[in-house]
Amino acid sequence: MITPEDRAFWEAAVNERHSCRSYKPTSVESGAMQRLKAFAAGLALPFDWRGEFRFFQTAGRPIANNLKVPPPDAVAFLSETDPLSVAKTGFAGELLLLYATGLQINSCWFGHYLLVELERCMPHLGEHAAGPLPAFGYGRGEVPGRRALCLSPLGYWEEKGLRLVDRLSSGLMSFKRKPLGALMTGPLGPEALSPELRHALELAVKAPSAANTQHWRFNVSADQKTVTVACLPGFRHFRWEHFDMDIGICASHLWLGLRTQGINCTAEPLPGAEEGHIAWKFSL
Ligand SMILES: Cc1cc2nc3c(=O)[nH]c(=O)nc-3n(C[C@H](O)[C@H](O)[C@H](O)COP(=O)(O)O)c2cc1C
Repeated sequence: MITPEDRAFWEAAVNERHSCRSYKPTSVESGAMQRLKAFAAGLALPFDWRGEFRFFQTAGRPIANNLKVPPPDAVAFLSETDPLSVAKTGFAGELLLLYATGLQINSCWFGHYLLVELERCMPHLGEHAAGPLPAFGYGRGEVPGRRALCLSPLGYWEEKGLRLVDRLSSGLMSFKRKPLGALMTGPLGPEALSPELRHALELAVKAPSAANTQHWRFNVSADQKTVTVACLPGFRHFRWEHFDMDIGICASHLWLGLRTQGINCTAEPLPGAEEGHIAWKFSL
């Protein structure tokens, strides 16, 4: 349960989390791993989620092109591949990675992981393993069965380990976010918001997204009782088509921001204005 007593923990996690693509070759400290697994098992979400966090050992396999030397521990985020399941999995997964951050464990969302390598260290495809496997991630669009939508290494940052190209891209993207005002649509801008709602939206702005596209937009109703988190109309990205995941990630930050200030709300993933995609409706 996420409560105001844990506010400092979660806010520090939101502010400190950044994508880590270079790790020390050490396992996650066992007490921290136990706490992380206990959190995963007991996570109470504001919606029904049928996905799964699957912890696995990388055995040193290069599970992504820019993660040739992963740490021993990692987690995969599995679910069905329809947009609603994808959106919910983003929400759930981000809470897990933020909790990990609070335990001093570094991580990075990987949508473009190497499926062949993942299947070797974490067999999960079953009958689907026979087909031609996509180059990156589980594949495109909706496919039958439960898939690993994304994965994340879990370990400790090795600052000097990055290739120059990765150091540059990490440096350029980490902590770089658009201002809240640039992400708001609808009748109200940031200056009109209650301090509490503005604070929660500022935490939502800090959410990670694939290639740091930040393709979410916030709409706050005139009475500030309804907030929608939806995709920028017409948004498409040539390398990342599962963008409902990132919107779910952003929604989880908003939910944390509200809950840790003691603001009760519902968070509903609903069919969005963008056909076939999900928008999150928060009722305060
Ligand atoms: C759903 C999702 C998928 C991502 N996939 C990848 C990936 O395949 N490879 C990668 O290097 N980074 C990936 N990232 C990390 C983003 O590039 C990163 O979150 C973004 O640039 C912001 O940087 P920060 O997380 O350090 O704040 C992904 C992030 C998200 C949210």
